[in-house]
Amino acid sequence: MHQMMAAVRGHRPERPGYYRLTLEAPQITGEAQAGQFVMIRCAPTLEPLLRRPFSIFATRPENGELEILYRVVGRGTQLLSEVREGSPVDIVGPLGHGYTLLPEARTIAVVGRGVGVASVFSVAQAARREGRRVFAFVSARTRDLLLAVEDLKRLGCQVEISTDDGDAGYQGLVTDLLASKAKSEGIGQVFVCGSRRLIRAAAEIAREAGIRAQVSLEQQMACGVAACMGCARLVGTPGNKVYKKVCKDGPVFWIEEVLD
Ligand SMILES: Cc1cc2nc3c(=O)[nH]c(=O)nc-3n(C[C@H](O)[C@H](O)[C@H](O)COP(=O)(O)OP(=O)(O)OC[C@H]3O[C@@H](n4cnc5c(N)ncnc54)[C@H](O)[C@@H]3O)c2cc1C
Ligand code: FES
Repeated sequence: MHQMMAAVRGHRPERPGYYRLTLEAPQITGEAQAGQFVMIRCAPTLEPLLRRPFSIFATRPENGELEILYRVVGRGTQLLSEVREGSPVDIVGPLGHGYTLLPEARTIAVVGRGVGVASVFSVAQAARREGRRVFAFVSARTRDLLLAVEDLKRLGCQVEISTDDGDAGYQGLVTDLLASKAKSEGIGQVFVCGSRRLIRAAAEIAREAGIRAQVSLEQQMACGVAACMGCARLVGTPGNKVYKKVCKDGPVFWIEEVLD
């Protein structure tokens, strides 16, 4: 884990209310595993005091860069969106427990809704670097809010999209697309990030098809380094639930562990 002032190499709007931030952070990039995250101080002022967690969307180890894809939701992300190229940003990482790519899973599926794509993109990138086949299912409310579709295609993933209003791709649940692919292809592992509803549906499909699945959880975090207990969540198998810290034991868990 490193704490550093990372220079902003690029910062641009991705979609209305969404930004892509590229930071020069060679130590973090060199160690980062898919599914890990960083804690960022969104402003140099004392307020907001607490860092905010963001998935490491993509890494480019060859030039020491990492990318964050984020949505503006409150004060911290609003201030972050105002940071200019060339400025330093105070960042800690890589943090948490990332995805586990099972060696036998030569074909995988990643499923991301909304900004959840920012987390599963990293495992798609890792899988493609190892020559695995990747189906990517991207979902959003509307066409305008679909994220990283072109990035996934450039990686060589087979991408399918769904929107709630049907303006682009399939109209309906992205998990319908996953279910259909799980029947027709030999998917070895599934990776999910999104709403509770998405996680439940994906868990059901994975269980029925006998596919191991992992999920990245979004939990509010105060410290990000296992010091405050602020992110504790009950996880485990029925009858054997224990509190775990999402920042240290997660954010990635096996999907059956997080079902309530
Ligand atoms: C491991 C991890 C990875 C994440 N990766 C990304 C990412 O790649 N891109 C991205 O856009 N966001 C990501 N998030 C969410 C991001 O951390 C929050 O959106 C951010 O902290 C909001 O800060 P803020 O100051 O703008 O909003 P705040 O003022 O802190 O909050 C605004 C509103 O959002 C709610 N909120 C804040 N944080 C969370 C949260 N973690 N879960 C649910 N509701 C929340 C608050 O309750 C409030 O209603 C991630 C969170 C975690 C835990
Ligand atoms: S955020 Fe502090 S213990 Fe996890």
